[in-house]
Order: sequence, then structure tokens, then C-alpha cells
Amino acid sequence: MNDQNLMEKIVSLAKRRGFVFPGSEIYGGLAGTFDYGPLGVLLKENVERLWLTMFRDDRDDMYGVDAAILMNPKIWEASGHVAGFSDPLVECEKCKKRFRADHLEDAGKCPECGGALGEVRQFNMMFKTHAGATEDESATVYLRPETAGGIFTNFKNVVDSQHPKLPFGIAQIGKAFRNEIAPRDFIFRLRELSQMEVEYFVSPAAWEQAFEEWRKLMHLFAEALGLPQEHVHELEVPAEDRAHYSKRTIDFEFDYPFGRKELWGLAYRTDFDLAAHANASGVELAYLNEDPQVGEEKKFIPHVIEPSLGVDRTILAVLASAYREDDMGGEVRTYLALAPKIAPVKAMVSPLLKNKPELVEKAHEVRAELKKVHPAIAWDDNGNIGKRYRRQDEIGTPFCVTVDFDTLGETPELKDTVTLRHRDSGEQERLTVAEVAARIRAAIE
Ligand code: GAP
Repeated sequence: MNDQNLMEKIVSLAKRRGFVFPGSEIYGGLAGTFDYGPLGVLLKENVERLWLTMFRDDRDDMYGVDAAILMNPKIWEASGHVAGFSDPLVECEKCKKRFRADHLEDAGKCPECGGALGEVRQFNMMFKTHAGATEDESATVYLRPETAGGIFTNFKNVVDSQHPKLPFGIAQIGKAFRNEIAPRDFIFRLRELSQMEVEYFVSPAAWEQAFEEWRKLMHLFAEALGLPQEHVHELEVPAEDRAHYSKRTIDFEFDYPFGRKELWGLAYRTDFDLAAHANASGVELAYLNEDPQVGEEKKFIPHVIEPSLGVDRTILAVLASAYREDDMGGEVRTYLALAPKIAPVKAMVSPLLKNKPELVEKAHEVRAELKKVHPAIAWDDNGNIGKRYRRQDEIGTPFCVTVDFDTLGETPELKDTVTLRHRDSGEQERLTVAEVAARIRAAIE
């Protein structure tokens, strides 16, 4: 399967099975926007839950915030985004189409009509709107281009309310908006995206150690998501390509079907943001140090390590890694080999025949029992059992459980046992319901 083909299959499966739909579809769409459907919502929640567990809840040094998307525009002036959050834009003098200059193969020629391209100019990617009934410049506000802004501006609130000791971090998941010149590649480059970000505050001398710790955790997260290690790469970003706030950045890149591209970023933001916000707001954003292990200085502005992970790019990497096709002697079986932890549905329960009330009743009992392990236990009694398995394979359900006449006691020694079928191997085994519950629990924990 070539990579273009793989991308088309992923996009098609995502729509057909309710993972991801084009945004505003019945009106012809809106470039750079996608909607998550019923299964996409579950997958997204599971990815975010895993991140929250590993990056926030399993640690004693992390705090959460959920800041407003609309913020005082002075924040984006101080952070440097009003002046510098831009991409190079060129316009074709003939067809008037606009392109991102650094994405063009031939910098002088329009890729659409071959016409000459004009001067490159910087295009600010922040979406602007107005707060309140006035529509002049004084009412301009921006949709946040990164969730980080709401973390830095709440630094003092978290310190004053929680009294954390350095080093500590603040984590946030939320929407960010970027008016990308050329949104593309499904949910890879969006205008409305979700980010999972940590700002981790350290003493200036401790930044390298913290950088290494977060770097390791990002690899562990990739592993927990089921991304193959050989498809995740690190790129040391050269100084001229780094964001204005960063003294060191590593891009985590992934081998997407359309090439090796940025998946996540890890940056050393120094004290750039806290210092800039303290300066612009006139509010002191310092840490009062009483611990000699942290350093000699009494009061200083902490430095920051920032692991920043796009949710949508993560989901695309997960789908691309999990997509499989098996040739079953002429018939192709498509399945998603999702890690059970993040699979939207953990198991499907089914009566062998839907017109046998005693089988249906018993299967409902089994499902109710398994729902005590996890709520995402599906029911399917449509079509033959093979078709039910195929439907679950396609959405990545790790287990299928079938209730048959042996469950009811037709073969006395098999009474109260069910068939457990494994997604990846297709293998089946006969187990008690309690054993099935234990298998599901072990797989998702
Ligand atoms: N706070 C730092 C920051 O925002 P970034 O490298 O611009 O840094 C961080 O973005 C992550 O957000 C990226 O590594 C990527 O996962 C995701 N991301 C950025 N722009 C995106 C876009 N247009 N569409 C989807 N995800 C995007």
C-alpha cells in the first residue's frame, strides 16, 4: 500500500466509522477544521486522560488550570506573538492565490498556474475578533494561539493559592487557534487545534536536568500510545528555526504517511515569558526561595521547560500506526491495532443468535457484569458473528465476547463460560465471565 493510499484509507475509515468528520460538512466544509464523531470523542478523551495521568496526576509536583481562550490582548503583545507569530506569505501575481513561501518547491513560481510570485511578507497567524459591542481596534482580542499563555498568566495565582515548592509545573489541555496559510493533511495542520501543554518551573541552574526528564517522559508517552519507537525521531532545532522564546528546542517527529513531520515539541523557554509578563503588567512574577537545595538566591524568576503536545497530531499518529490490513485468502480484514488503554470501545458483547431470548438475556447479564470493569462495553446483535467481529476490528475493539448455548449449559462443563475473541490474532478461548473481566482489566490498566 503506498502512503497516499494509506492516508485515503485512514480518512475514509475515520469518517465512515464516526471518528473524524470534515467540519461544517453540509455547507461544503471550512478549511482547517474537523469535528470528532462519537468514536473520535472517546479516542480523544482516552488520549487526553492518558496524558493527564502521566504528565499531571501520577506526579506530586503538578497542578492543573483551565484558562479562558479569550485573554487580554496585552498578553500576546508581551509574549511577542503580536509582533512575531507569523509565517512567510507569497501571492501569485497572475491567479492571486496565496501560499506559504517556506513550503514551496520553487520559490519563484506559482504551483497552481506557473505565474510569477510577488514579494514575501510576514502573515500573523493569530485570529482576531472583538470583545463587546464596539468593533474598533480598542476592542480587539485574539483567540489564543497556544494554551501556554493562560498558564504563565496564572503563575502567581497558582503560587499564592497552592504554595508549591520549586520545581513544579502547571498542565493544561485546551483549544488553540492559528490562521494557517495552508491547512493540510487531514488533522495534521489545523486552524482550530487542541494542545496538551506543561510549563515546568525550575531554578535557572536546573533546566538541563528537567529538560532530560520531560524528554524521557515524552518517549514513554509515545510508547504508551502504541506509537512504534522506530517511527518517532528527535530533531534538535537549530537556533535560526527556534521560536523567539526558546534557547533550546527538540521536535519530536513522526513518520506520517505523508512524510516525517513534527508531532510534538519540547522547549527551554528560559524566563522569557514570566519576565515579559512581569514587565508588561507591573505585577511581580517571582518565586521566593527558602530552600538552599534550590539555590542561594532568595527571590528570582523561574525558568521554564515546556513539553507541548498537539492532541490532533497525536490522534493522527495513533490511527496511522494502528491501521492494518490482513489478507484472509482473498478477503481483506481491516483492523485498528489500538492500545487497549486508548481504544474507544474495550469489548463488544454479543448473543450468538438474536432470536433466542435466553441467549439475549444471558448476553445482557454478561455485558452488565463487564461494564463494572469499564463503561465502554458495546452491544452488537446485527448480522452474523463474523460481520460483528469485522465491525469491531475496524474500530479497534480489543475483545469480542460471545454468549452461546454452551454458556447456558448445553455442554454442562462449559456452563457460564463465554468465547473471548482477540482482535489482532483472531484467536478465541473459552473463559468464565470473571476471567474475561480480569483480562479486560489487565489490558486497560
Ligand atoms: N506552546 C508552544 C507551542 O505552541 P508549537 O510548536 O507551535 O509550540 C506545539 O506547537 C504543538 O502543537 C506542535 O508540536 C503540534 O503538535 C501542535 N500544533 C501546532 N500547530 C498545529 C496545527 N496547525 N495543527 C495541529 N496541531 C498543531
